[in-house]
Amino acid sequence: MPIESAYKLLNRSLIYHEGKPVGTAAACDDRVVAANYNDCFVRDFVPSAIVFLLSGQHEIVRNFLVTLMHLGGHQHVLKGHKRSMGLMPASFHVIEEDGNESVIADFGDRAIGRVTPVDSALWWMIVLRAYVVASGDRVFADSDEVQQCIKNILDLYLRESFESSPTLLVPDASFMIDRRMAVYGYPLEIQALYYGMLLSAEELLTDNDTNKKTRADLRILSDTLRDHLRTYYWLDRRRLNEMHRFYAEEFGLEVVNVLNVYPESIPKWLDGWLDARSGYFVGNVGPGRVDFRFFAQGNLLAILFGISTGTGSQALMNLYLHHWEELVGEMPVKIVYPAMVGDKWRFSTGSDPKNVPYSYHNGGNWPVLAWSFVTASIRTGRVELAEQTLNIMTERLKKDNWPEYYDGRKGDLIGRRANFHQVWTATGLIIAHEVMENPDSRALFDKMLICNLTD
Ligand code: GLC
Repeated sequence: MPIESAYKLLNRSLIYHEGKPVGTAAACDDRVVAANYNDCFVRDFVPSAIVFLLSGQHEIVRNFLVTLMHLGGHQHVLKGHKRSMGLMPASFHVIEEDGNESVIADFGDRAIGRVTPVDSALWWMIVLRAYVVASGDRVFADSDEVQQCIKNILDLYLRESFESSPTLLVPDASFMIDRRMAVYGYPLEIQALYYGMLLSAEELLTDNDTNKKTRADLRILSDTLRDHLRTYYWLDRRRLNEMHRFYAEEFGLEVVNVLNVYPESIPKWLDGWLDARSGYFVGNVGPGRVDFRFFAQGNLLAILFGISTGTGSQALMNLYLHHWEELVGEMPVKIVYPAMVGDKWRFSTGSDPKNVPYSYHNGGNWPVLAWSFVTASIRTGRVELAEQTLNIMTERLKKDNWPEYYDGRKGDLIGRRANFHQVWTATGLIIAHEVMENPDSRALFDKMLICNLTD
């Protein structure tokens, strides 16, 4: 049975520290080239955490949260720089020397390309809230140590820098897409996670007089961020028409084309791509720049966290229905559409052979995204899309040995450099399966992941 075998893989991936399970390895494939796939990656642990919480195994998630909390701020600091206590590592592993165990963290200082894991602390906060909701262990969240950790994260992520918008400015490759892919600036996935983090933090900070102002500020910040995303990132026919007729070079306060986006920058593939009932959040927005690519995870999280309006969420699912072959195809779900090709690929990825068109991050299909796709489909009442997704993947993933990703326009080929026995491929399927088959899991999932569907 595929689901049983997915659970087996999850159990096999457990990482222990001082006798306690504290995380799960990214992959259990003996042949993997990059040794860090034995690490517990923070983002990869998220679907593991959801599975554990859905099945009442709260302890593992708590151990993970504690382990990570103790690693916060342990990064190597450049000479003369100040340490940011709120930064969390991309991954960690446990080593044993002379009978002593220690946890070794990677803050990007070992990672390929030395990328900064901006998403880790955002996920930590979101998982912490999910843990509290599922276990009822508010005492843990209220402990001095956890409260201090929350404050450290807020201190780093809310620090004023060179902002001209409420969105978070980050370097390239600072999240799931952790290689150069022209995702620097204000990528959607980071903004969605940032929003989820702000909402979670507001709830998690102890309700007392000292925190009153911070909690009120968090609410204001998250509302402003959500409105900004709805205004500047949301693209539908109406907005596309507006942009198509934009005047540029407008100066002053009362202008329409605030970011000076030239209509000539609208890519050709968008011509005729958006039907009247569809819409989505674009991938990135900055001065003179809209990245029109469709990024799955940011859009799906936007539905789950209530960044999109109720109507917007329906429009997003309409887009999936309308472009099923391109966005789902033979293996749910495509990470980004369309792929960058030719000179665009050459200059934007640095000629990265792993990210050639329709492979890996550059338009590959990632089964892990099924967890957010299926739950977003259910949340929007589009159960038929969730069913179709499960039908496509369930048998195939086991038969293919749980590959990390698939290649090709339709995602019909096992990824050229994909690991096998990739744990989040299995946990993605388990979550999708659980919420479809088990009404209790569905209800608990809804409570654990912030939902705030409003118009
Ligand atoms: C790759 C992925 C990244 C993931 C890691 C471990 O680097 O791009 O998102 O966290 O592998 O699976």
